[in-house]
Amino acid sequence: MSRFVVSPSRIQDGVLTVPGDKSISHRAVMFGGIADGRSDVSGFLPGEDCLATLAAMEAMGVRVERHSDTEVSIDGVGLHGLKAPAGDLDLGNSGTAMRLMTGLLAGQTFDTVLTGDESLLSRPMQRVITPLERMGARIDSRDGRPPLRIKGGRALSAMDYAMPVASAQVKSAVLLAGLYAKGTTAVTEPAVTRDHTERMLRAMGVQVEVRNGRAAVTGGERLRGTAIQVPADLSSATFVILAALLARDADILITNVGINPSRTGVIAILGAMGAEIRLENERRLGDEPVADLRVRSGTLQGGEIDPKLVSLAIDEFPALFVAAAAARGTTVFSGLAELRVKESDRIASMAAGLAALGIAVTETPDGAVIEGGRFSAGTVASHGDHRVAMSLALAGTIADGPVIVEDVAAVDTSFPGFATLMRELGVAIDVEGAA
Ligand code: S3P
Repeated sequence: MSRFVVSPSRIQDGVLTVPGDKSISHRAVMFGGIADGRSDVSGFLPGEDCLATLAAMEAMGVRVERHSDTEVSIDGVGLHGLKAPAGDLDLGNSGTAMRLMTGLLAGQTFDTVLTGDESLLSRPMQRVITPLERMGARIDSRDGRPPLRIKGGRALSAMDYAMPVASAQVKSAVLLAGLYAKGTTAVTEPAVTRDHTERMLRAMGVQVEVRNGRAAVTGGERLRGTAIQVPADLSSATFVILAALLARDADILITNVGINPSRTGVIAILGAMGAEIRLENERRLGDEPVADLRVRSGTLQGGEIDPKLVSLAIDEFPALFVAAAAARGTTVFSGLAELRVKESDRIASMAAGLAALGIAVTETPDGAVIEGGRFSAGTVASHGDHRVAMSLALAGTIADGPVIVEDVAAVDTSFPGFATLMRELGVAIDVEGAA
């Protein structure tokens, strides 16, 4: 099993970028696959999660040409052109792939089985099964968990769905099924979640009506293949931001980062803690806003984190917990119940990791109270969770001695090349025991 060994580091000034956005890369492959014509994707994230989506679409007859790791062309088979795969579709570690795919496959003529790794097999899928079954789908599960057996040949009807949890994955699954349903399907969200689905469907010529947190599509609308430029992933950039903020006097520019307002909660939260993160050269990359992010080291101040920002920073809390542990004073996180059903129970994983490094942390049912302090040397578990692994690794840059993070293979699901990039930044990180 591979592990990171991170020693106290001196972060260097520099200009760099991070791999492509995971959410947008998944969608480019799925939507491109059911579009008419070709979609040329640049900036694609060659992480294991998105490669699993790519393989699943190929298994259903979509032709994919990989010009390089990040340049991919998808020859769409049209809305009704997917074919029955020869076997089960293995989506690895990816909740996004499984939930979106469930919506996409609920309206096909053939049966499919979706499965994944141990972490994915334990994740809740009832949140997509319930609305999709209400539309007429038939999905068998293991008590709401994968594997999912999706029955083909079901006639779907449109629905107006008020989502009980704020989830872009559920919203996207229902909208994708809506493309195969009779009538207009709408989803209303209880808090703003990422809107990459709405943006990309529109870019592909589908009419998506969005008003007051309600997004609607009409069945039978066809998608047109298009060029998709994927920005660098703000969720991955967060680890570079964290490295810079923990350092004493770093000044780092991260280029071409997606700053979709449904994703920028991390910038707002760190800003409220006193971080200096400036957006430079704001522009559009296709349908998504991007900017270069300039981050300067400085002192962070703890406080009460606004729960209204949670859905806009949903993947960034492991990193934010480390920032809070390095901040002055006490930081109170709440409204994070969803974190308990991510790739691991992220509240528990991070609380255990920080405690092992000498930080005073109290877990609450939907958050944590973290006292700023000094990290001691120590060995921590990643719980097989990519973002937990990367967050705890960065604590090692300012700890009293080496921090060892066990079981870090999952980092490749979202951030291939993490250790190499961190080394360029000056992080003293070794990967031991890699295959
Ligand atoms: C994602 C949505 C989020 C996020 C995940 C990617 C997406 O999940 O945590 O990493 O691409 O739609 P939820 O929508 O379930 O909160």
